[in-house]
Amino acid sequence: MSLLVCKSVSKRFGGIRALNGVSTSIEEHEILGLVGPNGSGKSTLINVLSGLYTADDGEAQFGDLDLLRLAPEKIAAAGVARTFQIPRPFDTMTVRENVSVSYMFGHRRHSLEAARDAASEWLAFTGLEAAADSPVDQLTLHQLKFLELARALATDPTLLLLDEVLAGLNPTEIEQSIEMIRKIHERGITLVIVEHLLRVVTSLSDRIVVLDQGSVIAAGDPTEVMADPAVVAAYLGGRAPDARGA
Ligand SMILES: Nc1ncnc2c1ncn2[C@@H]1O[C@H](COP(=O)(O)OP(=O)(O)OP(=O)(O)O)[C@@H](O)[C@H]1O
Ligand SMILES: [Mg+2]
Repeated sequence: MSLLVCKSVSKRFGGIRALNGVSTSIEEHEILGLVGPNGSGKSTLINVLSGLYTADDGEAQFGDLDLLRLAPEKIAAAGVARTFQIPRPFDTMTVRENVSVSYMFGHRRHSLEAARDAASEWLAFTGLEAAADSPVDQLTLHQLKFLELARALATDPTLLLLDEVLAGLNPTEIEQSIEMIRKIHERGITLVIVEHLLRVVTSLSDRIVVLDQGSVIAAGDPTEVMADPAVVAAYLGGRAPDARGA
């Protein structure tokens, strides 16, 4: 069953068509890989689905809600969470405070005490307990990426949109992050993963959707999609698949 159905989603920035009539669906409980060359519209799709940007046209049906017509806090309350390609914590707060705030303003509203408990749970889940009382500016990139995950998870999402959580990490950190993505999925959360490491996306995803210049050029079984000549050509036009290494 589809959890989210996007129909003809479009977004322009001046003369740039960042999304040019994107229609796709996200099935309940799947891991959907969203790939494409630089500038193909992956982050823009996440940005319009999470309400950060207003789409120019189209719809994104999530249950009986159209996400394209909701404010970010309503989208979070409906159960859709996202991470940012560049982590965006509240710089003046500790790690624990960052997660607590997400919990309080996420899917369900709770007291400060409940928020502390929930924050502890998600900090343990992401392995950040030892850093719980540190200011966020003392975190490594890997810890910041896990904090992004903890903050998103604290909103109690049904659907989690991950924008390049592996970018900039070393091979050991990438392995740990892949394990974390699997653990999140095991909790019954549907995932969309935007990722440049195509070998990782292919092995993690149930299905893959490929964007090129704001349009879906292929969708379906990961291995078949990555062998599709149109996909190979799109990557060769920009950057060859796996150019950023394993
Ligand atoms: N806020 C913005 N203002 C102007 N143009 C934008 C903005 N956000 C995205 N764009 C443009 O829209 C297009 C799609 O960008 P987007 O960030 O969605 O690509 P992407 O697939 O996420 O790329 P990358 O793999 O490099 O992260 C690009 O041409 C980009 O320059
Ligand atoms: Mg991006």
